[in-house]
Amino acid sequence: MTASTGHLIPPHGGELINLIVQPERASELKAHSREWPSWDLTARQLCDLELLCSGGFSPLQGFMTRKDYEGVCHNMRLASGLLWPMPITLDVSEEFAKSLKPGSSKVALRDPEGVMLAVLHVEDVWQADRKAEAEAVFKTTSSVHPGVDYLLNKAHPWYVGGRVESLQAPSHYDFRSLRLTPADVRADFAMQGWRRVVAFQTRNPMHRAHQELTFRAAKQVEANLLIHPSVGMTKPGDVDYFTRVRCYQLLIGKYPAGTVKLSLLPLAMRMGGPREAIWHALIRKNHGVTHFIVGRDHAGPGNDSNGKPFYGPYEAQELFKKNEADIGVTMVPFNMMVYLEDQDRYVPDNEVPNGSRVLNISGTELRRRLNEGGEIPGWFTYPEVVHELRRSYPPRHKQGVTVFFTGLSGSGKSTIANVLLTKFLETGGRPVTLLDGDLVRKHLSSELGFSKEHRDINIRRIGYVASEITKNGGIAICAPIAPYDAVRKQVRSMVEPHGGFILVHIATSVEVCEQRDRKGLYAKARAGIIKEFTGISDPYEEPKDAEVVINTGDLTPEEAAQEIVLHLEREGFIGVSGNQA
Ligand code: PPS
Repeated sequence: MTASTGHLIPPHGGELINLIVQPERASELKAHSREWPSWDLTARQLCDLELLCSGGFSPLQGFMTRKDYEGVCHNMRLASGLLWPMPITLDVSEEFAKSLKPGSSKVALRDPEGVMLAVLHVEDVWQADRKAEAEAVFKTTSSVHPGVDYLLNKAHPWYVGGRVESLQAPSHYDFRSLRLTPADVRADFAMQGWRRVVAFQTRNPMHRAHQELTFRAAKQVEANLLIHPSVGMTKPGDVDYFTRVRCYQLLIGKYPAGTVKLSLLPLAMRMGGPREAIWHALIRKNHGVTHFIVGRDHAGPGNDSNGKPFYGPYEAQELFKKNEADIGVTMVPFNMMVYLEDQDRYVPDNEVPNGSRVLNISGTELRRRLNEGGEIPGWFTYPEVVHELRRSYPPRHKQGVTVFFTGLSGSGKSTIANVLLTKFLETGGRPVTLLDGDLVRKHLSSELGFSKEHRDINIRRIGYVASEITKNGGIAICAPIAPYDAVRKQVRSMVEPHGGFILVHIATSVEVCEQRDRKGLYAKARAGIIKEFTGISDPYEEPKDAEVVINTGDLTPEEAAQEIVLHLEREGFIGVSGNQA
């Protein structure tokens, strides 16, 4: 039996939106969809669509039209006058936008597998002024801000607005019992008799400080607690949500029984600080929440290129306070919690007694300790949580690593790479794969030539394979020429989230390579028989970001390989006794 939820806080705008249509209408839409253009939703758009359909974004009934969008950007208001701080837009390519007719076109919105999730009734199509949007919403146009970076560099340039009808919600196969819609959460609150509920938003693992903060907040306003982490898209570099959810599940058991609930929110965060705090609260209101915790630097994007924070630490609290009546949710403001060593307890940093010794471990420091296998003290977090974090973030000597050589043909890359390979095999521990230039050209890239375009494709393929090997804890040794800086950097960014990336420049000069001419290729290149030959008739961009530079004039292949091993040891990627624990 479902309990009535009418006594709970009303959703934003008064009505909980549900865009999922009845099965009959769904069949009708599906039948018509043959004639409609399709749009494959991006990861961000999938998250937004899910919250639109379930009513998490009530009162929105689709992607914003131009009027709503402009009002939201410049006044934080929808065309109806209702408060709403964040644009929810469907961005598409110019070509796609130009194929649509406002007022009559319909678009089938599809998931990555091609399943039609919803139809968009096109009302507006326009080219967005994304810089003006960034300035209005995020108060900056700096791409160092992750929300701005997405908007200016990743989102498409045209927007399509209109009402949405949904055939089905995006499918999830993970943590299903924790993925509750606003209606599910409301029903659960009603069943438990919870009227006053304070929600906690997070994109990080929770430790004792967070537990203490949420516990105090709930006590202070005499409410139950909803731990409501974002598991859509968060800040690049965050702890993956699978690990986080396992940690939350462990932590939930540490609260008094029956006081706390955990539910996952498929929200794509924008890291918009003050505006985002209001948006977060409205979403929670739609879930039946009456109080919302706003801490220090809520949804903060980090620092700008001068090392200055984009927003003040309590700017989110200030903007919230100003708009609290329109939000309809009570803010529970909190300072940062710190640990008082002498008293073995946590207090907000503005309540620290004079002369007390205060301890704190930042996110960066925690990552360092995990990387180095360092101690993570019991006052900071629970041993079960540490165990879970260590499983996902092992110390460096147990992580995968890519050693990426770059250098001219005949510079000695392959020889040194082979010596390094045998050193790793000799010590054992992690599996090792050598992706040598010639081998890759034979097995992965046989159809490619040596134009810039083809070389870049070749390097990206190597990077992809190396990143997979690294992700799975292995060692990838890559030895292509890789003459272009930009694509080398791309490979670095593909690999680094999964483990180590060491760029090794074999800096043998073109004169020496040509003199050796082991394969006779330089002679052919000089004679014009081989075209686009690196160093002769094609460019080689020397890396400025190499971790190791080897001059083969000074070192034997064994010595060169030893230099690389020493670097890996220094960085902690191999233990002192070899590449194993
Ligand atoms: S790249 O630029 O990284 O994609 O090149 P790579 O895959 O490493 O392939 C280089 C090997 O191909 C042979 N070869 C050439 N190299 C450079 N330029 C031209 N035009 C060319 N044509 C063939 C050459 O043997 C390279 O092998 P190494 O081991 O580097 O000598």
